[in-house]
Amino acid sequence: MSEDERLTELAKRRGFFFQSSGAYGGVAGFYVYGPEGATLKENLQDAWRDRFVRREGHMEIESPAIMPEPVFEASGHLDGFDDMIVECPECGASHRADHLVEDETDIEEAESIAIPDIEALIAEHDLVCPSCGTALAGESVEDFNLMFGTNIGPGSSSPGYLRPETAQGIFVEFPRLKEYARGQLPFGVAQIGAAYRNEISPRKGLVRLREFAQAELEHFVDPETDEPPLERVADVEVTLYSAAEQEDADGEPRTMTVREAVDAGVVGSDWVAYYLGVAQGWYERVGVDMDRFRYRQHQSGELAHYAADCWDAEAEVGGDWIEITGFAYRGDYDLSKHAEYGDDDFTIFKQYDDPVTVETATVDPDMSYLGPEFGGDAGAVKDALEDLAERDRSAFESDEVTVAVDGEDRTVPVEKTGFAVEEVTEAGEHVTPHVVEPSFGVDRIVYTVLAHGLRTDEAGETVDEGGGSGAEPSGEEADDGEERTVLSLPPEVAPTGVAVFPLMDKDGLDERAREIAEGLRAAGFEVAYDDSGSIGRRYRRQDEVGTPFCVTVDYDTLEDGTVTVRDRDTTAQARVGTDDLAGTIGDLLTGDRTVADF
Ligand code: ATP
Ligand code: GLY
Repeated sequence: MSEDERLTELAKRRGFFFQSSGAYGGVAGFYVYGPEGATLKENLQDAWRDRFVRREGHMEIESPAIMPEPVFEASGHLDGFDDMIVECPECGASHRADHLVEDETDIEEAESIAIPDIEALIAEHDLVCPSCGTALAGESVEDFNLMFGTNIGPGSSSPGYLRPETAQGIFVEFPRLKEYARGQLPFGVAQIGAAYRNEISPRKGLVRLREFAQAELEHFVDPETDEPPLERVADVEVTLYSAAEQEDADGEPRTMTVREAVDAGVVGSDWVAYYLGVAQGWYERVGVDMDRFRYRQHQSGELAHYAADCWDAEAEVGGDWIEITGFAYRGDYDLSKHAEYGDDDFTIFKQYDDPVTVETATVDPDMSYLGPEFGGDAGAVKDALEDLAERDRSAFESDEVTVAVDGEDRTVPVEKTGFAVEEVTEAGEHVTPHVVEPSFGVDRIVYTVLAHGLRTDEAGETVDEGGGSGAEPSGEEADDGEERTVLSLPPEVAPTGVAVFPLMDKDGLDERAREIAEGLRAAGFEVAYDDSGSIGRRYRRQDEVGTPFCVTVDYDTLEDGTVTVRDRDTTAQARVGTDDLAGTIGDLLTGDRTVADF
């Protein structure tokens, strides 16, 4: 079984995720998170919030998923948010043309290749429809817009779209959000929420969905003066696969510190480098295997329409590198576009330390002269004179000045233009902030953390199935040598923190175990209670869903108030007291103590 198949099987069986609407044949690209998966996803989002919102001092908002069409005209998604589609002439199945090329040739990134070249590659490599095997040579490849459209209200007069990125909900609200930041740069606004893309061919479980969750941060900065606190991450080691290395036949990903990457110009933006460093620690914290992880720079043809530079965080799963986060330098693209199309102020007023006195050239044309002289064009001549005064005041140094209106020269005596140079004192200037954007795909991170945490090993542990203590087993060693499946999730993201078992469902053990479980719940832990099957089986069940610790209540508990605590990863066991079990479990979960310490 491949890694993806094993994961999908476990995910369905143990309630992490499964395809939705199964009773109606299932819908590709839409998944349900079961009880374990929903909690895992929520825990990951909380960990993200902790690192990228709280610890960075940013704010978080929640905006609607449906936005009106003009938003996406402005953002460029209506025109430019396309993937390449090719349809099978025989069975009618649609396929993403660049992925077909990547799957069947040595080309790693076909997204940047132009459509005619993709068509040529399909013919040259005799590519066939993956659904029915029909040859695709000669079929046309088209652009397919990925946005889901809808109508807002009855009728079709107000078209809208489901947002393809949560980011637009932040950009569009910038005029108000800047007030909450008291008009001061830099500031960051985060949002966690659903995004929608009508993907041509969803695949690989949670990796390519049509509805998925993004955790995005839009950090607004003054490109002239704001700098990131790079020293905080300067020594963090990152593996970088630059565009230059990708283009070089012998190119390789290279490992270096964030400082070295900036100094050598491998990462062009200090802000992007800062977030690569921060994210490196976060991925490790939530359970990404850093030996199966890298940052890959976009090649120029691959960049999104808004991005000046972009690095993807990629994780290897099942032999494929999948993009789990994009770190884009979006410049002033989005705010400038919304300023152009929208009706509000998308700039920040930047106060100078000291007011600055500048000379400005102005005109105040004599309309009683321009009107009779130029008739209907008089207004346009006035506008052209204003433009010229701003651009080139020397044009007003002769007796006459000439401007072009609709391709025709119009000459005006300078004395009729009201030309003047004035001194104006300015307190500051309006700047359009630049945007640095880490954009995390939550579902792909869930998938990666599950894949990287999943392993099988031999149980190799003795399990007390009788009446004695776990530390000195006296019972059946039923599971020794048996293969076990373990999900080694970090305790912070594991759906369940601790499972409580009564050794037997009788003799008061069950009552005591329930009390202990309730006490741990009241202390704030996610607790599972399981009284069915052998203790060995119960351990296996918890191992498979990643529960870091199990607590067994046995006859000794009734005598001396101790329980057996067992560690998922090492299978080590210890007897611990129940007086402060919540404190003990808390220490174990944070790693302040280990089972071996008891
Ligand atoms: P891809 O090239 O794989 O389609 P993308 O470059 O379009 O991804 P971005 O537009 O940068 O992705 O989106 C930001 C993040 O959102 C990605 O890093 C990814 O984690 C997530 N994401 C994008 N599309 C999907 C999807 N269809 N299903 C799940 N997650 C997605
Ligand atoms: N906000 C980045 C993206 O989703 O494309």
